[in-house]
Amino acid sequence: MSLELKIRAAQAAFDELESGVRLGIGTGSTADEFIRILAAAVKDGFEVVGVPTSERSRALCEELGVPLATLEEMPELDITVDGADEIDPALNLIKGGGGALLREKIVACASKTMIVIADSSKLVETLGAFPLPIEVNRFGLGATRVGVRKLADSLGLTGEIALRGGEADPFVTDGGHVILDASFGRIPDSKALADGLKEIPGVVQHGLFLGIASLAVVASRDGVDVIRPQVEG
Ligand code: A5P
Repeated sequence: MSLELKIRAAQAAFDELESGVRLGIGTGSTADEFIRILAAAVKDGFEVVGVPTSERSRALCEELGVPLATLEEMPELDITVDGADEIDPALNLIKGGGGALLREKIVACASKTMIVIADSSKLVETLGAFPLPIEVNRFGLGATRVGVRKLADSLGLTGEIALRGGEADPFVTDGGHVILDASFGRIPDSKALADGLKEIPGVVQHGLFLGIASLAVVASRDGVDVIRPQVEG
């Protein structure tokens, strides 16, 4: 997505906020633009206390002067603004392309509202073209991988399950875990997959955000759409 569209989506999400907000601050290139807009507003007197969803976002907020707290200090938030890798019509998401899914989900679920910021290329009918990030404990990685494979087989999901960064030098999350990226292509029953993943002991968290987002602010060449979840049935 072009930088211009990221900025447009971020600005429209910022426009939804009121001064004094207790804010979850997302991770990714779109969230970075949101942080820049927020920081400029803070300089002009906008009041906010933010909880960042990654060390990366924490560093950018600190550099730009956005006031921060931890989730321990401020365990209940008003709104989280974050990007996504895929968005379906019910506003179910795949997240974690940037590796911050665990903290992103904890922070989003501690918030009354989650606003997703994205460009229209992130909109899909069915989740799954983007490889699903699954954060797993490093202990027992092999067994966890077998467990994920068996679950996928039982749901008719095929495709590679790759360790992010490779076996020799895997990517390590802020929480000290590693990530399996599952290239299923299409996930017709995301609820069954999410439920099954939670049952595998080595799975710390997965990037399916189901029923968490309340609003998506989606920028395209034609303007910015504010999308609310379409309820199925
Ligand atoms: C970070 O872990 C992800 O969930 C990001 O929010 C997501 O990948 C969107 O990133 P971009 O805004 O860079 O596309």
